[in-house]
Amino acid sequence: MARITASVYTSHVPAIGAAVDLGKTQEPYWQPLFAGFAPSRQWLRDHRPDVILLVYNDHATAFSLDFIPTFAIGTAAQFQPADEGWGPRPVPTVMGHPELASHIAQSVIQQDFDLTIVNRMDVDHGLTVPLSLMCGEQDPASGAWPCPVIPIAVNVVQYPVPSGQRCFDLGRAIRRAVESFDQDLNVQIWGTGGMSHQLQGARAGLINQEWDKRFLDLLIENPTGLARLPHIDYVREAGSEGIELVMWLIARGAMADIAGPAPRPHVRHRFYHVPASNTAVGHLILEDAP
Ligand code: DHB
Ligand code: FE
Repeated sequence: MARITASVYTSHVPAIGAAVDLGKTQEPYWQPLFAGFAPSRQWLRDHRPDVILLVYNDHATAFSLDFIPTFAIGTAAQFQPADEGWGPRPVPTVMGHPELASHIAQSVIQQDFDLTIVNRMDVDHGLTVPLSLMCGEQDPASGAWPCPVIPIAVNVVQYPVPSGQRCFDLGRAIRRAVESFDQDLNVQIWGTGGMSHQLQGARAGLINQEWDKRFLDLLIENPTGLARLPHIDYVREAGSEGIELVMWLIARGAMADIAGPAPRPHVRHRFYHVPASNTAVGHLILEDAP
């Protein structure tokens, strides 16, 4: 059977992708950020999964106001890096896992979650920047991401957005789906986006370090309580784009201690850095006991 062994959490910022692509990761502005992910890159080399379920948000790249799925799953064999205005990032094509993705769609929809099935889409910085942070630079011609990736897109851009509770419950359903897949696969789930940031309006530039660090504490220690936080608290405390953090609850809801009696996951790595562009960057790696 397939099983979820670890969850990874990280912010995304388009400027991080540009720093990787333009060879700027050792410049003074960027060096401390990338140093914080060095242990994570080593960990991923040592704990290479068979598949990554990558929870992220599209930024009006694949989707637009024409149609707005709340939760979508990419069932395609591959996903091209999107052109976000300056051409596509020079990174490898993201290979999917249509069999597992279709199984998750089947199982999660039968558990009463309305996933939109997407057989063709391009993926923007929301998905490729977390991959770059965790995998390092990849040559688009000869390189490849370490394993297939199933994109799970969440609408946190256009209101109404899903609640943290709904995201947490979706994570639980995803765990059940993975555990009912009959191939022996080591699966990681990544929750991305956040932490505090606001890109627009009177409060543009808002960062709330205290709130972010408390969010990290609660995500580890009391995710069930954290899931009950209303969306307006994210917006008030972490800025309008801070709402991206609800996606982290999908990954946390898929861990073993949420499914039943099991020890809390082991914190393999924790990192927080301010700022990257306009955003506070948070990062966690949580491992389930073997
Ligand atoms: C920035 C952050 C985001 O989450 C995003 O989608 C775009 C830009 C930023 O900090 O610049
Ligand atoms: Fe974003």
